[in-house]
Amino acid sequence: MSTDAPPILELRQIRKEYMLRQGMLARLRGGGKPFAAVDGVSFAVPRGSIFGLVGESGSGKSTLAQIIVRLIEPTSGTMLFNGQDVAGLDRAAAQRFRRGVQMVFQDTGSSLNPRKRVRRVIAEALAARGVTRANAATETARLMDRVGLDTPMLARFPHELSGGQRQRVGIARALAMAPDLLVADEPVSALDVSLQGQIINLLQEINASLGLSIVLISHDLAVVARVCSALGVMSKGHMVESGPPSRVLVAPEHPYTRTLLAAVPSGLKGRRQTDRTLMDAFAAGDMAAATAPVGSEA
Ligand SMILES: Nc1ncnc2c1ncn2[C@@H]1O[C@H](COP(=O)(O)OP(=O)(O)OP(=O)(O)O)[C@@H](O)[C@H]1O
Ligand SMILES: [Mg+2]
Repeated sequence: MSTDAPPILELRQIRKEYMLRQGMLARLRGGGKPFAAVDGVSFAVPRGSIFGLVGESGSGKSTLAQIIVRLIEPTSGTMLFNGQDVAGLDRAAAQRFRRGVQMVFQDTGSSLNPRKRVRRVIAEALAARGVTRANAATETARLMDRVGLDTPMLARFPHELSGGQRQRVGIARALAMAPDLLVADEPVSALDVSLQGQIINLLQEINASLGLSIVLISHDLAVVARVCSALGVMSKGHMVESGPPSRVLVAPEHPYTRTLLAAVPSGLKGRRQTDRTLMDAFAAGDMAAATAPVGSEA
């Protein structure tokens, strides 16, 4: 990989305005006021890295995720994918983008079709990428292995799977498209703490083995800090700070980051280390121990 390769993703001064959510009556009167759910956000994701996006509820994380996968268009600002402005992509390039940027959702209960068996979910993704029927079986087996699911699971419907297994299927479906970038919006917040670590470890493995770039979103700093190489902290639509976790967590520049950090130990309840703050642990270079979720295999 050449060092001057452009970042896989770069956001420049991205802004997204919505009309303020308010009562029906006010809306009918046309009294809606625009507000910025995302306000002047800029960051870059180097190819092959994991970028962690953290922030409280309503800070604009999912809005950013939707902009990155182009479910919605920003009000203003520029987004570059592989160095190319996505606003100016021709039809073929836009199609490549759609395949190349995949999303993993929080709620696999509703993002997976309840009437489709796992086999079909994966088969459809492979077909969309143009994998031939002849190659689909091998490819499916490889994907299942990669996400840690046994092949008998292929015959199951989503409701016959645990939350963790469903999330693995969601990841397999995304990987079936052979993406360049994976956007995972709160991929573990619906899971038990013990499973959270396993899914995060899986994403980390996939990043390491495939070199897949990942934007990992969570309201929980402890979830992302352990695996990301850079961290962006969102508050009220702004990215209030960003940098490697070793810097952001040890020497946070923004008061809001300190608030987030202060909230972390309670999220690690049940560990013997609870009296030690995450910041102390990071300062001591004990990052993995500080953020490993309870019951994780690592
Ligand atoms: N379609 C929409 N119309 C109007 N307002 C919206 C819309 N989508 C999001 N918002 C508002 O934009 C702000 C940011 O929402 P967003 O979902 O991006 O936050 P978030 O950081 O993902 O929060 P959470 O942690 O709860 O998922 C919120 O105030 C939300 O109410
Ligand atoms: Mg969200």
